[in-house]
Amino acid sequence: MLSYNKNHVKERVVVLKKLTVILIGAGNRGTTYVENMKNLPDMFDVVGVAEPIEARRRHIKEMFDIPEENCFTNYKEILSMPKFADMAIIATLDEMHLEPALAAIECGYNLLLEKPLAQTAEECVAIANAAKEKGVKVLVCHVLRYTPFYKTVKTAVMDGLIGNVMSVLAVEGVGNVHQSHSYVRGNWKCEDETTPMLLAKCCHDVDIIQWLIDRPCEKVSSFGELTYFKPENAPENAPLRCVDTFCPVRESCPYDINKIYFSENCPLRFCRYAASKGFSENDPPLDEEVLTGIRNSNYGACVYHAGNDVVDHQIVNMQFAGGVTASLTMNAFNEGGRYIRIFGTKGELYANASDTEITVFTFEDRKKINLTVEWTEESIEGGHGGGDTGIIYELYEYFNGDYKGFCAADIDISTENHVIAFAAEKARKTETVVSISEYAKSLGFEY
Ligand SMILES: NC(=O)c1ccc[n+]([C@@H]2O[C@H](COP(=O)([O-])OP(=O)(O)OC[C@H]3O[C@@H](n4cnc5c(N)ncnc54)[C@H](O)[C@@H]3O)[C@@H](O)[C@H]2O)c1
Repeated sequence: MLSYNKNHVKERVVVLKKLTVILIGAGNRGTTYVENMKNLPDMFDVVGVAEPIEARRRHIKEMFDIPEENCFTNYKEILSMPKFADMAIIATLDEMHLEPALAAIECGYNLLLEKPLAQTAEECVAIANAAKEKGVKVLVCHVLRYTPFYKTVKTAVMDGLIGNVMSVLAVEGVGNVHQSHSYVRGNWKCEDETTPMLLAKCCHDVDIIQWLIDRPCEKVSSFGELTYFKPENAPENAPLRCVDTFCPVRESCPYDINKIYFSENCPLRFCRYAASKGFSENDPPLDEEVLTGIRNSNYGACVYHAGNDVVDHQIVNMQFAGGVTASLTMNAFNEGGRYIRIFGTKGELYANASDTEITVFTFEDRKKINLTVEWTEESIEGGHGGGDTGIIYELYEYFNGDYKGFCAADIDISTENHVIAFAAEKARKTETVVSISEYAKSLGFEY
């Protein structure tokens, strides 16, 4: 069996160049990446930061002892300096990817760019074209590829354990709490301000499906809408704001701010961080800071009156070359977690993405074998099931021009899966089947 070596990059540290890094946007994601880099001092040094929130900027400055003259409040300032590092991390919000990405490419930085690439398909193509013209590498943060779970799945497929892939079924259970925090009350609640759900949340899933099938996608259809988190479903007499008001259903409402942001078992650590605009998940915000953040933002809204418009459930059907099919279901109405089933000519593979074992059933002997997912403490602690540390290890090789792994994808692959997601949105809105090659052609993107 091919099986990957989870330590292979660590073992090669001495051979490759240490990379210097600038961070643009020291929020939740940006801080996570550089905290992981901090644990790898032979591989990375963060030498500059741009972040308007003072506490966040100071946190990064102190972590890496960055000189004051390399600390900026805005990406425009840091990118108006002559290039002074090997790579830039762009981890600003979705609506602030295009401009800094183009400016950083123009400066000649290799980029670790948060997903989604940009807010429209045209803008994604513009970034890909600029990178190719300038000859810089852009790695998009499709962190799931770098998790022990999906590496094991991909290895099993590459090893031919289930023969040729004929169909994939992927479920993205966003989770009711995560949906309420990010996509009802939070940053990604309105698609015109950020991106549609398929980009904001599911571009990872589209990427994984495309990676596993490894053939061009030919056409897509999609259905879905915002059905539940709407004013007409609000309980009787529920106030518009959940904070500082009396709500008659508070006790039984799963979305009561006390349960999500203040209970002992706050289900998602990042909710408190985002609500408070705190500066590190490792240095958790105080209750007063979280409450102030909620009072002054949409995190304090009732989930049925939050002014949101993104879907709370959606399905996408895809056809790939050779008649291979895939189906992706996202929805809010679950505990949270991903699930995958891959159907091949010689067997079937299935698992939950949080499992320690992946089951493969083979037709020849009608036996089930279990593949063990090599979780490590580092990958569990590192965020996104190990993806947030995994991508940092692999980008080190990738940007050093000596990549030996099988996860990192060049900007064209990332652009392709963004194009598939935008095409699916078009299919949903127009109730049509969209041809990917025709759609890509209309964008001037060679597919
Ligand atoms: N790869 C993943 O799995 C994953 C997961 C969650 C979010 N994301 C993406 O990561 C990105 C960042 O999300 P986040 O949750 O970290 O958001 P965040 O709000 O925590 O961080 C964004 C940061 O950008 C800063 N910023 C704002 N204006 C700026 C400017 N002019 N110059 C420099 N910095 C500026 C903000 O102050 C903030 O600290 C988003 O695009 C999001 O969709 C990716």
